[in-house]
Amino acid sequence: MEQRLIHPQGPAFSRIITGAWRWHTVSPDTIDRLIQTSLDEGITTFDHADLYGDHSNEELFGVALKKNPALRDKMQLVTKCGIKFRSAKRPGTWVKHYDTSKEHIIWSVENSLRMLHTDHLDLLLIHRPDPLLDPHEVASAFSQLKAQGKVLHFGVSNFTRPQFYMLQKFVPFPLVTNQIEISLTHVDALFNGDLDLLMEQQASAMAWSPLGGGRLVANEREMFSKASKYNASYSQLALAWLLRHPAPIFPVIGTTKPERITEAAKSIAFTLDRQDWFEMLQWARGFEVP
Ligand SMILES: NC(=O)c1ccc[n+]([C@@H]2O[C@H](COP(=O)([O-])OP(=O)(O)OC[C@H]3O[C@@H](n4cnc5c(N)ncnc54)[C@H](OP(=O)(O)O)[C@@H]3O)[C@@H](O)[C@H]2O)c1
Repeated sequence: MEQRLIHPQGPAFSRIITGAWRWHTVSPDTIDRLIQTSLDEGITTFDHADLYGDHSNEELFGVALKKNPALRDKMQLVTKCGIKFRSAKRPGTWVKHYDTSKEHIIWSVENSLRMLHTDHLDLLLIHRPDPLLDPHEVASAFSQLKAQGKVLHFGVSNFTRPQFYMLQKFVPFPLVTNQIEISLTHVDALFNGDLDLLMEQQASAMAWSPLGGGRLVANEREMFSKASKYNASYSQLALAWLLRHPAPIFPVIGTTKPERITEAAKSIAFTLDRQDWFEMLQWARGFEVP
């Protein structure tokens, strides 16, 4: 699979990224297979967050890396921080909230490094925009982590355009992505300027829930009448629809089944015709473009 720079200053990621949000639902053996199948298919980038699986998924992934440390050099690791919720593992938190203080960002990264069994992250994202975000603190935390070599690149997730732009003004190196929900069930980013801002900044989008969390593949059958024309499955068509965008968009897939990773990887093998792309958009929205 093609590797592509997510920003001219890096990092290079696989065009499809494997997300670990749902991995606490499967066995350690299956986690080993999800990692190995991804790598076998050229999907070298893995998306995490500190809180996935009630703060357990990074650690589950780290167990696999501890067993086989040679895997680390073959992959890029992304994680996120900044959301805190009530959990037996976080006894000090009594209300769900965001924390983008310098102290928390640095603590969270150091914890993620321990959990993931690695000495650096390829990309750190602020998970959600925080109304109490102080850009000086975030910039200072990012600069310290970069200088220490603990995090190589930085970005955000679920930020609006003004929030992205504002933070970028304070951070002395590029924010390389905004990870947002984009799929045929969530097309707003194509029309509200989110993707245009990223292109202007020479950054790329990472698309979470590219199959609408599975709903798209299960329910929107009419939209996928292209399946036989492209000899492709519904999930491959849904991913090819995202890959066709020039932003570019890096879909972050969420399956817990190794064979579905193999299936997803094949979606880079064909390019949707422009009219087919628009017809799928029309079916998704229920109206033709003006
Ligand atoms: N930044 C954020 O705020 C944010 C939010 C949510 C997610 N994320 C990231 O995005 C990743 C993907 O999210 P997601 O899990 O909602 O993505 P998704 O790929 O849209 O949905 C995956 C779900 O669809 C199901 N599914 C049904 N048919 C499928 C098929 N043919 N192929 C593949 N999957 C099929 C999967 O079930 P099976 O497991 O049975 O295959 C799984 O439950 C997460 O792992 C996480 O890394 C980020």
